[in-house]
Amino acid sequence: MSQEQTKSETKSCPFNPNAPGFDVNPYPMFKDLRTQAPISYWDQGHGWIVTRYEDVIAALRDNKRFSTNPADWELASTLGTAALIPERDELNKSNLFALSDADHARVRRLVSPAFTPRAVEWLRPEIQAIVDELLDAAEAKGTVNLVSDIADPIPARVMSSLLKIPKGREVLFQRFTEASIKSILPSLIPPEELVAVRKDIREGIALLRETIEERRRNPVENDILTTLIQTEEQGDKLSTSELLSLVASLIVGGFETTVHLIGFTLSNILRRPELFAQLKAEPELVKNTLEEVLRFDNFGKLGLTRYAREDVEFGGVKIKKGQRLFLMINSAMHDEAAFPNPETFDVRRSTTATVAFGNGMHFCLGVHLARLEGRIAVDTLLKRFPDMKLVKPPTFGPHPVLRKMETLEVQLIARS
Ligand code: HEM
Repeated sequence: MSQEQTKSETKSCPFNPNAPGFDVNPYPMFKDLRTQAPISYWDQGHGWIVTRYEDVIAALRDNKRFSTNPADWELASTLGTAALIPERDELNKSNLFALSDADHARVRRLVSPAFTPRAVEWLRPEIQAIVDELLDAAEAKGTVNLVSDIADPIPARVMSSLLKIPKGREVLFQRFTEASIKSILPSLIPPEELVAVRKDIREGIALLRETIEERRRNPVENDILTTLIQTEEQGDKLSTSELLSLVASLIVGGFETTVHLIGFTLSNILRRPELFAQLKAEPELVKNTLEEVLRFDNFGKLGLTRYAREDVEFGGVKIKKGQRLFLMINSAMHDEAAFPNPETFDVRRSTTATVAFGNGMHFCLGVHLARLEGRIAVDTLLKRFPDMKLVKPPTFGPHPVLRKMETLEVQLIARS
């Protein structure tokens, strides 16, 4: 008889992202899961929680048995985005997660040149100017909330500048991205919030269309959106719906992730005086600090979602066709099988095994842009405010998929 357990036979899943203290430190819970129930079914979230590095990486690399397409979920018609947030329909169908493997590879080939390290390096002066301007305003205030005053606006402004969104409309894009991230798991959005989420998505899509049409009329040289439109105009290369979905995923993929990369990195530095001193002495360590923060203190509450394309025997359990998996990269990066002494924050450790940006064919398209934004923000803050001080520990707000940092109060002390 097979030893594999089905959903109803597995031990009850101790995963509970609403447990007190989870946002501040979810890692003890992940450790219990890895040792006691490495793959177990979480009823409330309707999916398997996969916590060990080996299993997470195996599933990320196995697109034959595991799909990224939410339409493949057994509960898609009742609890999926299409059912609860129909406004996203037109974005969902040509989304990078929904395309066939061949179409996905074609679209990635078309857009990848715009996101190479060398291509994003061109954005350095623009990003630096945005950071400088935000820090000038922050300095004038003295004590700031680093999340809302600095981390939040950076990616919003960078993406707006990248896509040349008219000034004043960035706020709408910001609301669109926040609503889109929540709509990854719409069944976990409180019903009273769903109406606002749907409205923000509707208005965001209208603005996206408007922006694309405007750029079609007024192409700009060396501009990402113009390049994508011209690719779309060559018909067989990029369809109109692929273009719309792609622009939406750049905005969504590049926003709250980068906000949290900046916020969590600063929070980790400010809570560790010895690290702060080390980075002032060796600023080139900031690069690895960003990676170590993504490993050690990843801001994701849940993991990357996949759907079984067929009945699968996986890591000791039987997963039925259509069932959902949450690949918990946050837990995987604390697995000592992949990272020695995982509970030690070590800016000099090798992070080549990281899965913070995924792995396999859906590996993050914006990884170099994210690293560049993080680097410029943190470098500039450390240089301008080497004596800055944490006023109080960070606070977290409710969120279905993120350990959402809401405040990081800091006293900025400028060098006289
Ligand atoms: C710290 C910042 C970021 C983190 C931690 C991050 C993380 C990730 C991860 C884990 C994935 C894989 C998802 C999966 O396999 O299910 C991914 C994919 C993706 N990311 Fe990022 N990301 C970041 C920033 C960005 C930025 C700045 C952009 C856009 C400019 C971006 C665009 C995308 C896109 C389009 C995909 C989908 C790729 C595909 O399906 O082929 N990301 N990201």
